[in-house]
Amino acid sequence: MFSVWKISLLFMASLALTAATIPGKKDRRPLGGWTDVNVTENDSGLQKALEVAIREHNKASNDQFINVVTNVIRARRQIVAGMKYSLNVQIAKTDCRKSDSTPENCTESELSRLSQHKRCRFVVYLVPWLKKEELKQNNCD
Ligand SMILES: *[C@@H]1O[C@H](CO)[C@@H](O)[C@H](O)[C@H]1NC(C)=O
Ligand SMILES: *[C@@H]1O[C@H](CO)[C@@H](O)[C@H](O)[C@H]1NC(C)=O
Ligand SMILES: *[C@@H]1O[C@H](CO)[C@@H](O)[C@H](O)[C@H]1NC(C)=O
Repeated sequence: MFSVWKISLLFMASLALTAATIPGKKDRRPLGGWTDVNVTENDSGLQKALEVAIREHNKASNDQFINVVTNVIRARRQIVAGMKYSLNVQIAKTDCRKSDSTPENCTESELSRLSQHKRCRFVVYLVPWLKKEELKQNNCD
């Protein structure tokens, strides 16, 4: 599933423009609250959260095709015992099947045929020292 993440990375570049047009929402909330994560920065925690979110989303869905994150609209994080990420993203179906043995090539080549964009809100809970990677909320329209 790493390849799927690589695909979504490709889209990160386009986020710079998108994010720049969203009016300033750079409020730094106090410790314990939710803090905005700059989605144009290559934040390793955010990357991990997105990777886990789409991986678990794909696992949980009945869809036989793999979905990838195509756009990160907003990301926030909260320091708990570990880290919680609230992700407002757009996802799209590839025509790469979950059963494909070589999804890396499949996703790359079929990317242009992505369709059926959906908006999702994911909440991911990461506790690295316990190797805990949980998708707590998985709401797509
Ligand atoms: C986000 O990061 C980019 C690149 O570092 C920077 O240009 C931009 O001003 C940042 N945006 C906010 C809202 O902090
Ligand atoms: C983003 O960070 C990851 C490691 O966290 C690195 O492998 C990757 O090359 C970085 N990408 C960019 C565009 O800086
Ligand atoms: C992916 O495609 C490249 C070039 O088309 C090929 O060399 C490579 O072996 C493929 N990878 C897999 C895992 O099939």
